[in-house]
Amino acid sequence: MIATMPDAMAIRPILTADQPILRERTKRVSSFDPSLHRLLDDMLETMRDAPGVGLAANQVGVPLQVAIIEVDNRITELVNPRIVRTGGEQLDWEGCLSIPGYVAETGRFAKVTVKARDRHGREFRVKGEELFARALQHEIDHLNGVLYIDHLESLEELVRVSEHDEVTEETAAGI
Ligand code: CO
Repeated sequence: MIATMPDAMAIRPILTADQPILRERTKRVSSFDPSLHRLLDDMLETMRDAPGVGLAANQVGVPLQVAIIEVDNRITELVNPRIVRTGGEQLDWEGCLSIPGYVAETGRFAKVTVKARDRHGREFRVKGEELFARALQHEIDHLNGVLYIDHLESLEELVRVSEHDEVTEETAAGI
């Protein structure tokens, strides 16, 4: 008998922005079952491998309202997330694992409060500012079929990561 490891996490391929699924709204999760847990586990491993600080389920081909963020060594799993409060403005470099090699200065709310469910279906609220707030907005955009380039006035604002000095490792990592 060949040994298998059904519980091992797996890296899933990250789709690029030309894939139609990244332009479609994802569906609400209604079943908080082992397949959701497997998806979240795989998304964490895939995001870390990339490496990145955030990943939405449609980026790995699953059209569900599921996203994961890891900022400052804190993992946040988001199921059916909604922004319920916003405040202020911020402008900083932003990238995306589905648009590899590029970043652009992108305007976002400085602070957001998000309501979501965890992998067991329990509702929670999370507040974010700075990069974490940016990642929350970026991932929830993904779940609505929106990419950060949609917030730019022109695609000419995109800068190649390799040609930019100001871009930090964290920014270049992409969300
Ligand atoms: Co992204």
